[in-house]
Amino acid sequence: MILPVYVYGMSILRKIAPEIDKDYKGLDQLIDDMFETMVASEGVGLAAPQVGKAARLFIVDATRMEDMDDEPDLKDFKKVFINPYITEEWGDKWSFSEGCLSIPNIREDVSRPSYVKMEYYDRDWNFHEEEYEGVKARIIQHEYDHLDGRLFVDRINPLRKKLIGQKLKAISRGRVDCDYKIIYPNK
Ligand code: NI
Repeated sequence: MILPVYVYGMSILRKIAPEIDKDYKGLDQLIDDMFETMVASEGVGLAAPQVGKAARLFIVDATRMEDMDDEPDLKDFKKVFINPYITEEWGDKWSFSEGCLSIPNIREDVSRPSYVKMEYYDRDWNFHEEEYEGVKARIIQHEYDHLDGRLFVDRINPLRKKLIGQKLKAISRGRVDCDYKIIYPNK
């Protein structure tokens, strides 16, 4: 089932998402629904708070980003991250144009370190400790931020943030054109 996406201004996007356990009700269905929602809205990542769930969980699917010649293995990058923690971030900061399903029609350059090391559980509750770099690291860093109540617009320079202030306000009032279903405050 395609779920509505909670957009800028919704308080759940600003909360720290709590860890979940194997008994989390409807987890399998939630993960399926998140994939369906992400594909329908053409995203490459989606965190549980973006569909209104206070759960430390995000998914990624970069298999449609095939046009990135310098990152050929992105086409296999489809994963579920449960209770993830980034334990280390390092390397040169680089700038990449980020967007977010919770902030429709806005893209801004965000600078982040090149590498991440993280711990998480997969869908079958196997524990992993892995390192990622490049665009994979970037997608993870963006989604991970959602679990700590952060959005990419918090990481852009203050002047840019001021410039998009009106657009953000419009989004938080539901005044935005997008092809997928959204939920905004007081709706
Ligand atoms: Ni996002």
